[in-house]
Amino acid sequence: MKKKFYITTPIYYVNDVPHIGHAYTTIAADVLARYHKTLGEEVFFLTGTDEHGAKIAQAAAKKNLAPEIFCAATADAFKNAWEALNIKYDRFIRTTEKAHEDTVQNILQKLFDAGLIYKGEYKGLYCTGCEAIKLPADLVDGQCPDHLSKPEEVKEENYFFQLSSFENNLRELIEKDEIMILPASRKNEILGFLKLGLTDVSISRPNQPWGIPLPFDPAQTTYVWIDALINYLTGINFGEKSPVFEKFWPPDIQLLAKDIIKFHTVIWPAMLLALGLPLPKLIFVHGYFTIDGQKMSKTLGNFVDPIGAAKKFGVDTLRYFLVREFAFGADGDYSEKRLAERFEYDLANDWGNLVQRTLVMADKYFVGKVPELKNSASNIENVFAVETWRAYDIAMQNLQFDKALDEVWKLIDFANQKIDEKKPWTLKVEEEELPEVIYELLEIIRHIAFMLLPFMPQTSEEILSRLGVSANVKDLSFRKWGKLSFGNEIKVGAPLFPRKPNL
Ligand code: MSP
Repeated sequence: MKKKFYITTPIYYVNDVPHIGHAYTTIAADVLARYHKTLGEEVFFLTGTDEHGAKIAQAAAKKNLAPEIFCAATADAFKNAWEALNIKYDRFIRTTEKAHEDTVQNILQKLFDAGLIYKGEYKGLYCTGCEAIKLPADLVDGQCPDHLSKPEEVKEENYFFQLSSFENNLRELIEKDEIMILPASRKNEILGFLKLGLTDVSISRPNQPWGIPLPFDPAQTTYVWIDALINYLTGINFGEKSPVFEKFWPPDIQLLAKDIIKFHTVIWPAMLLALGLPLPKLIFVHGYFTIDGQKMSKTLGNFVDPIGAAKKFGVDTLRYFLVREFAFGADGDYSEKRLAERFEYDLANDWGNLVQRTLVMADKYFVGKVPELKNSASNIENVFAVETWRAYDIAMQNLQFDKALDEVWKLIDFANQKIDEKKPWTLKVEEEELPEVIYELLEIIRHIAFMLLPFMPQTSEEILSRLGVSANVKDLSFRKWGKLSFGNEIKVGAPLFPRKPNL
């Protein structure tokens, strides 16, 4: 049976159109989904939009639109962005879908019936931007530092979930890595937070019409975070006795940034424990990035539109840059200057030139065909290429995309050096060495194109087609040395990373 792989991104708020920060997480998930597909696993990749709550209702009202219409338009903007970035999700969930509303109600009823939900008084400072309660210690000059606004004082009747009763259980599971939280610093952060003791969490709000009514008290709607977390269950048809759910639950990797860590590592697993469901295997918390050293904000107006960036530099360049520039898990900075540099040096010079030079030589010396090796003993594998797969896999399994790409670039450098050393243009066509050198280079290129397939799908598919190789793999045999068939027709084609006139 095929191994399964279920990966999720957060579902993004639809109060505004997607920006480069949303694209970052979604591209990373797409890279992992594609990588696991090349391993022959059965993959389910879930993403979507978070559409209820005061924040969205207010954004719709500001535009004089009914929330349904407003949400549909922004959800479409997210779908369009993911299409433009070549993101191949299996399901795009919207929390306003009937199936999701039903699942939320079913789950809340179950928790209520199990005696884990009770009515109480809710008092505190609520930040609508965060859709969360703030403690005085969270504020800077009385304002939420993330949204630069004063939270609203609320005092209302709410329903509460008995989160506190899961404290010890959660601590143990996290300590033992049964809920694995990576990077390790984030695990420690959450263990530190648990030490302070957990209080119960509100799961509903009165006077908040844009939400899912509680099944046991329709005067209240579901707190938007509880509603949102349940998407990971609805997304694979929980509650319908579905084979999809049976096959894919629990998530293998859940990606998110540090801003929403507590919801995902505390409230979410506690809900699953309460429901008696297996827990996610890995919660990976990546960093936040700034733009040219500054936080992205409305006031600064420095939101980067991912579609615009992809149009300017190429989709694959943007995908490559985002996961190469800094370690996944660490904070980093996005700048067009660095993007342009990576485009020029890594892609146009190193990778693009290697492919172009080699294809031109194969075309010139062997009438556009993969040369046959005269002596089969010379078809010995290139040890470097084989070793690179090993290092690449270790890095990919640990979500160290930058390291995986470093390994690939060492192989690119090796191949470029080989051309400079061997100087194929000084060799004679009728001798053994020329076909050997060209075959080895073409074969290294085939391997690299497959290594880069999850990161730069369009470019890799194009390169493989120029080598007469299909990018659709059935098993892992594509990783073996010497799979490039003699006599395959080579197409030189246009440069893969043509210089941009405006850079
Ligand atoms: N709707 C909630 C999530 C619910 S999940 C059950 C939410 N939405 S959001 O639109 O604010 O998206 C937050 C997520 O977007 C972050 O966790 C991260 O994945 C991504 N990012 C947003 N800005 C980012 C950066 N500046 N840098 C990196 N990731 C960023 O929270």
